[in-house]
Amino acid sequence: MAMTTEEILQFRKKHFLATSVHYYQKPLQLVKAKGEYVYDEAGREYLDCIGGIVCISAGHNHPKIKKELIKMLQEDEIQHTSLLYLNQHPVELAEEMLKEAPEGIDRVFFTNSGSEANELAFMAARQATGETIIINLRHSYHGGTSAALAQCGHGTWKFRGQPAALNVSAMEPYCYRCPFGKKPDSCSLECAKNVETTIQTSTHGKIAAFIAEPVMGVGGFIAPPKEYFEEVIKIVHRYGGKYISDEVQTGAGRTGESFLYTKALGIKADMVTMAKGLGNGAAIGATMMKTETSDTMAGKLFFNTFGSDPYQTMQAKLTIQIIREEKMMENAKRMGNYLQDGFRNLMKTHSVIGEVRGRGLLMGFELVKNRETKEYATAETALLMEKCREKGLLVGKGGLFGNVIRIAPPLSIHQKQCDQVLKVIDECLTEMKQAGQV
Ligand SMILES: Cc1ncc(COP(=O)(O)O)c(C=O)c1O
Repeated sequence: MAMTTEEILQFRKKHFLATSVHYYQKPLQLVKAKGEYVYDEAGREYLDCIGGIVCISAGHNHPKIKKELIKMLQEDEIQHTSLLYLNQHPVELAEEMLKEAPEGIDRVFFTNSGSEANELAFMAARQATGETIIINLRHSYHGGTSAALAQCGHGTWKFRGQPAALNVSAMEPYCYRCPFGKKPDSCSLECAKNVETTIQTSTHGKIAAFIAEPVMGVGGFIAPPKEYFEEVIKIVHRYGGKYISDEVQTGAGRTGESFLYTKALGIKADMVTMAKGLGNGAAIGATMMKTETSDTMAGKLFFNTFGSDPYQTMQAKLTIQIIREEKMMENAKRMGNYLQDGFRNLMKTHSVIGEVRGRGLLMGFELVKNRETKEYATAETALLMEKCREKGLLVGKGGLFGNVIRIAPPLSIHQKQCDQVLKVIDECLTEMKQAGQV
């Protein structure tokens, strides 16, 4: 018998870890999904503009993936095996991924999550360089495992006693709130230069790696300019480090620029990590790297029980093919621009929107109490999310102070649905204004 929302909540409160948070004051139970929509236990439909957390790329329960899953089960295809045996599904997925990889990257290892993909990248960088220090960016997020969390640029995520000795944060390339007080059109990339200053002041002069997201997801879709990365890659290599591009959120075509945004930005990364949208909801991550880095790990025992699982890798392979066949990247770019234009238009009537930003369908807007002081509108953002839910729209939030609305729908979203997103947000903000809440 199906459990009620209240029963699930009470069980979670009693038996899940104290860290088990949920969206919404009155939590939402989701039971079904199709395409761009999800459904609660009462059958109510919601337009899903966050996809779990940026995981649904090809759309919920895509018919092609569904059909193949059913076929595999009907034909008794092996449900689990590990890399210690051979199976063609991980090979087929790797083939598809390498077609999309930045120049020189020709090795893949599959994990179950983005955190693990980054953990492996850190170990590979340290093994290859013999160095320990990894530079990250303030406001970044790279996962919830111990080493990944050590590289996190948000205090709220870190536990007491979080090991911090082997990582250092450089200043965030956050143009809207430039930590150097500059304006994008007249700055001289102080943020990029800060990576070098950080190495010069906080390390012995050599590093193992630098890790960054091409668009900072949890940080609130902060999208640094291309020039930032061009400068930083030179610095990282000058100090002997490996450049790790964390594409857990930006990958799988979400930015609408290329399957991996690293490629469109021209970042000569040494490693790229992926997860989330790669599996369209299946639990899969990947670390990609160059042979020269991979070779330094030869002779080490490294194993991941579920990484390369046939069902997961099959789903990821089909996801990539669907994104290509159904021209979803082109759609992500078009719909992303359409939404950004729409939100910029809303800025004329809603002064609480401080900035609209992002790339493709990884976009959102920052809410501020005052456009001059840019005071974080944290409570207002939470309220807007609640109100959107009441009107059948699910969005996410992010940013160090939770004041950024994040929009990351399936890459198949169409214009009518985008119009619906804009309409709902306009209505909610208008109601909030009328009630004196913004
Ligand atoms: C950029 C980035 N890297 C890594 C991770 C960790 O991925 P996972 O939660 O699959 O371990 C996340 C998760 O939000 C992420 O946003």
